[in-house]
Amino acid sequence: MEATAYTAQSLYTWILDESSNFLLLDVRNPTEFTRFKVEGPKPIDMLNVPYMEFVEFEEASVAKVPKGKPVRIVCAKEGSAKFVADILLNNGFTDVGFLAGGIKSWGNMLVPKLLADNGYQLYQFIRPGKASCSYGLASGGELMLFDPSRNVDFYQQFAEEKGLAITATFETHLQADYIAGSNSIAQATSATFLAPPDDFKDAQYEYTPAQDGDIYGFTQPGPEIRVLHTPGHTPGSTCYLIDGTYLVSGDTMFIQSVGRPDLGGKAEAWSKMLFTTLTQIIGPMGNSTLILPGHFADWSEANEDFAVVDTLGAIRNRNAAIYAINNEADFYAFIRDNMREQPPEYAKIRLINAGLSVVDDEEAEVMDLGKNECAASAGK
Ligand SMILES: [Fe+2]
Repeated sequence: MEATAYTAQSLYTWILDESSNFLLLDVRNPTEFTRFKVEGPKPIDMLNVPYMEFVEFEEASVAKVPKGKPVRIVCAKEGSAKFVADILLNNGFTDVGFLAGGIKSWGNMLVPKLLADNGYQLYQFIRPGKASCSYGLASGGELMLFDPSRNVDFYQQFAEEKGLAITATFETHLQADYIAGSNSIAQATSATFLAPPDDFKDAQYEYTPAQDGDIYGFTQPGPEIRVLHTPGHTPGSTCYLIDGTYLVSGDTMFIQSVGRPDLGGKAEAWSKMLFTTLTQIIGPMGNSTLILPGHFADWSEANEDFAVVDTLGAIRNRNAAIYAINNEADFYAFIRDNMREQPPEYAKIRLINAGLSVVDDEEAEVMDLGKNECAASAGK
C-alpha cells in the first residue's frame, strides 16, 4: 500500500466537515510545532511526534499513534511526512496521507468566500495559515484586490477562472507580518498598484499614492471605492470604503480588538493617532457598516459561514471596553497594558514590502510562514 498525497485545500475541507474523522499527525520538531500549527474553524484531533523520534525509536513512536482512523501527516517540506507515512503503512495502518508541499502549502493557501453579490461580487480570501484576509471586488469583468498575499498564482488563477482582469491592487498599509503581494501582482499583470504614501514614501518601486478622499471606480459603472486615511496602526494606515457599505479596514480594526499601534516603536504617538481615527473617522460611521478586517486572532471571530466579517455595531458591542475609552491617555494605557514583543522577522518583512530588501523565494517562504501578531489584545 502506498501513502497518498493530499492538498492543503483538502485538509481545510476535512476540518470543516464534521463527518470526516481523522488524526492530524505533525512530525515537525516541537519548537516548530508550537510556533505554528494547523488551525481551523473546527477542533482538530492533532498529535505531534517528531520525525526524528520515528527514525530513532520507531516502535515506541508508532505506538503513540492511535489506530482506527485515517492519519494525515504534515511536516516542513513533504519528505519526512512521506517517510513516516511509509512506516505507519508497514505497521498495519491502512489510510495514511502526507501533505503535498509540507506546512508551507498550508501557510500559503487561500480560501475564497463570496461576501456580496449585488451586481458586483465581493470576495474574502481567507488565509487560515496566517489568520489574515485579503479581498477581491469584481465588476464589469474587472477585479480589484485589497491586501493580497504573495500567492500571486492563486489570484491570477482565480481571476482567470472567473473571466476577470486584475486592474488594481490596493494596500491598506506597509505590512509587517506578511509579505505583501501587490507589487508582484502589479508586475505580473497590468494592474495599478495603490498604496498610502505616508507608509510607502521610501518604497523602491512604482505605485500610485492613495490619498484621503480619493475615489476609485471601474471602467464600467460599478461600486465606488473611497479612500479613508485612518492612521494609528501605522502612520499611513488607510481603509477603503466600498459602495458606502463595506469597509476594508486593514489592521485599523478587527472583529476582536483593534490594530496594534506599537509595532513601529512609537507606541504613544501612534496610539494617539489610532484614538483619533477610532473616535473621529470610524466613530461617526453607521452601525450597519460591514467591517472587513485584515486579520483575525482566532476562528472564534468568524461567523457561522466561516467568513470573518461583522457589522460595526456588533464590533462596537463586542469590544465595548475599548470603544468606551473617551480620552487619549486611557487609550494609551490600554495599549501599554497589552503590549508584547513583536516577532523579530517583522522588521525584515517591512523592508521587503518597501522594496528596500530583496530575498529569494525560499527565504521569503520561511519569513512569511506563521500566524500574525497584529491585534492589540491578542496575547492577553
Ligand atoms: Fe499590519
